[in-house]
Amino acid sequence: MNNRIGIFDSGLGGLTILTEVQALLPQEDLAYVADSAFAPYGNKDRATVLQRSLYIAKELQHRHHMKALVVACNTATAASIHILRERLDIPVIGMEPAIKPAVRQSKNGVVGILATEHTLKSDKFSNLLDIHQHQARILTQPCAGLVEAVEQGVFHSAETQALLASYVLPLVDQGVDTLVLGCTHYPWFEPMIREMLGNDVLIISTGKAVAKQVQNKIVKSDHMQQGDIDFYTTGDAGEVSALASQLLQNNVVFQTFYPQHSRP
Ligand code: DGL
Repeated sequence: MNNRIGIFDSGLGGLTILTEVQALLPQEDLAYVADSAFAPYGNKDRATVLQRSLYIAKELQHRHHMKALVVACNTATAASIHILRERLDIPVIGMEPAIKPAVRQSKNGVVGILATEHTLKSDKFSNLLDIHQHQARILTQPCAGLVEAVEQGVFHSAETQALLASYVLPLVDQGVDTLVLGCTHYPWFEPMIREMLGNDVLIISTGKAVAKQVQNKIVKSDHMQQGDIDFYTTGDAGEVSALASQLLQNNVVFQTFYPQHSRP
């Protein structure tokens, strides 16, 4: 039993958040869950995503007596953050597409948002859009298939490049000068997106801002040494370890997330 920061996502997207939390708070012990057996969340109904979020939170709490939970997934945040906050007595930090900083930083007032269809259709996103839509022309683009490309390890294939281009280039044609990556999987595509956009378009993702929020909400570890990370997956631990090691360019070993406390 210890006091970790729990972080979860439908799969490997949340690692883009984990790396920022680790960079800002190197002494903290972390526990990461990739719900790979249920990825992508984007094609599940809201009730299923909520049920997965509650299950993972409960299991993590049981194993690690967490001091904070990071829902490192925009889709799961939209489906479950209110209920997680009601049920857990620790800080719960969620994601949302970074419209506010994008609108603030855009010079020509044309902002693009890439996200999953679920996120874009959620009430949470509609409310966010309502607040900012009079300040800029905000173009939303659902990106079916990109999460799967990361989860299947084909994010560099010609098909994935073409799919990505079909989402990004129409936004370029419409003059976006700021592009929000509204899904935690998408930063893995950032070098490819950068090539398509050229250097003049600003790309905004949420990892650093989320890490700061975590820093503000926790009582910091008094360890002097580097914290450690437990990696779990509900999918095939060998496959997920290989994919994650490739993404992080570092050897990481995932364990199977067997239920210890509640039913999946
Ligand atoms: N990383 C998740 C997000 O930020 C992906 C959702 C999915 O699994 O479809 O939305």
